Amino acid sequence: MRILVISDIHGNIEALEASLAAADAAKYDRVFNLGDVVGYGASPNEVVNKSRELGGIFVRGNHDKAASGITNAEDFNHIAALAAYWTRDNLTPENLMWVRNLPQGPIKSDGVENVQCVHGSPLDEDEYIIVVRDSYEPLMETTAALTFFGHTHIQGGFAVDGEEWMTLRPIYESDDKAEQFVFPMKKSAKYLINPGSVGQPRDGDWRAACAIFDTDAHSITFLRTPYDVASAQKKIYDAGLPDRLATRLTDGR
Ligand SMILES: [Fe+2]
Repeated sequence: MRILVISDIHGNIEALEASLAAADAAKYDRVFNLGDVVGYGASPNEVVNKSRELGGIFVRGNHDKAASGITNAEDFNHIAALAAYWTRDNLTPENLMWVRNLPQGPIKSDGVENVQCVHGSPLDEDEYIIVVRDSYEPLMETTAALTFFGHTHIQGGFAVDGEEWMTLRPIYESDDKAEQFVFPMKKSAKYLINPGSVGQPRDGDWRAACAIFDTDAHSITFLRTPYDVASAQKKIYDAGLPDRLATRLTDGR
């Protein structure tokens, strides 16, 4: 089975459509969506509609919680709070309810053994796993051999194999073409894998990020896909959302 893993779409329909086209070409059977479906971007309804259509496994992100009123958006920085309120005002009532009802991770995958989905960390849905030190506790405490996580908007991950701790970062040849990086996994190791952010990458690469997990080959294919970033930016400006939310899409930070 091939599973498309997407995370942190953040209301960016252009990035989502481009990623899905790339994933269609690479083939997949089902979808894991790791949350932050909305927040920041100007197309929350389009992204929620497409996410609902794709189905699969979902976990909620911190922006899904803030936009739908589960948590207080005042706790965010000013720009993120403005975006959360704008998203709340612009989601249809049905889509707002769908976002509000997204489940808290970890969610175990039915039919795929030893795999779980979280937004931040298996130990805390709001925690950031940025450097390998952050992965020690979650990797030691969790029993799942493979945990998919998002939240940091950084594609790659961490692994432990016996005494050896590893940081995984895909390597690409360009910064403007559609690319893939295949990472073969070892059966003996335990992994935390981040597909990267579809709609607001922060790892220095502006291209939309996602990943495909091949359960038979036991490999992860990381994807980076160029998309119509100018269109996504124009919608952000037109919506009156903070300019920084548009400019950071080309910065990839
Ligand atoms: Fe996010």
